[in-house]
Amino acid sequence: MALRAVVESCGGFLPEKILTNEELATSVETSDEWIRERTGICRRHMAAHGQRTSDLAVGAAKKAMAKAGIGPEDIDLIIVATATPDLTFPATAAIVQAKLGIKQGAAFDIQAVCTGFVYALSTAEKFLISGQHKRALVIGAETFSRILDWQDRTTCVLFGDGAGAFVVSAVEEEQAEGRGVLSSFLRCDGSMVDLLYVDGGVSATQTTGYLRMQGNKVFREAVNKISQAMVEAARMAGIEPKDVDVFVPHQANQRILQGVVKKLGLREDQVISTIADHGNTSAASIPLAFSVAEEDGRIKRGDLIMLEGMGGGLTWGAALLRY
Ligand code: ACO
Repeated sequence: MALRAVVESCGGFLPEKILTNEELATSVETSDEWIRERTGICRRHMAAHGQRTSDLAVGAAKKAMAKAGIGPEDIDLIIVATATPDLTFPATAAIVQAKLGIKQGAAFDIQAVCTGFVYALSTAEKFLISGQHKRALVIGAETFSRILDWQDRTTCVLFGDGAGAFVVSAVEEEQAEGRGVLSSFLRCDGSMVDLLYVDGGVSATQTTGYLRMQGNKVFREAVNKISQAMVEAARMAGIEPKDVDVFVPHQANQRILQGVVKKLGLREDQVISTIADHGNTSAASIPLAFSVAEEDGRIKRGDLIMLEGMGGGLTWGAALLRY
């Protein structure tokens, strides 16, 4: 019997503390005007001292599980997309499993930076449709505030902390009523590592390091790569990007979103943007934006939804689903 990976619910979680552009401008040479004009960001959330990536992940997972009406005994796969794990090992997914009181199944992390959630959802789909696992928590969670160089105005104004989670179930095709992940397209070009990376790590420096980015070079790659991924994911499902009801993009820069809308002939009102309030939360940004749009009614059951992202690696990808 053929199986579909159906997204049952989603949940988002943001740390309480909000850092505005104005507050940032008191510690680094920048301005609210520059940040808004170049990126669309107005504010971002910051994890409290001692609040870990796993805590944000658990907050989002609990909301998604409550919406799906399921408990710890119902999950047998946890995938956490993160570039800011609690510890070098074990995987943050293992820590999340313990904090949620889940005793069964598999748990592991995926590292594809801002494309992490698309990679994680695509991976979960393959595990679920194989019949090996029944219900997954797919989580994007980040504490990028921990790897920012707060003296570097070219990067520290861009990122925020947060988490988002999907509950995804294996459902027999006949019962799925057309819902589920319909296609996904993942790519990486490792020759562009130098455009966006963290300058520390276990085997290189034995330090955590700080995020380094040649923002304008990444920007130049973004519109083409994101558009390619969306066109390919749509083509695999026999449609065109303009046929999609709602786009939930990775929230890196409002100008990138506008560029993609123009290139693919989309309407701005099809595209969910939470960048003003969240900044770039890397792997968390897609499920966070998804949960905001579901809660305010812009995403409805049965909608055809495209997720897309691009980030360090460079990695990029898109996934198409019927919700
Ligand atoms: N405040 C004021 N001025 C600034 C700031 C700031 N915070 N940051 C940079 N500037 C200055 C620069 O120094 C430069 O000044 P100069 O002309 O005197 O040299 C000027 O502003 C322009 O800088 P650019 O870097 O060319 O600005 P750009 O228009 O490219 O915007 C930005 C920068 C916002 C970073 C943009 O390039 C971007 O969004 N890039 C893509 C980011 C992205 O998508 N990353 C992928 C996902 S992230 C991940 O995977 C972790």
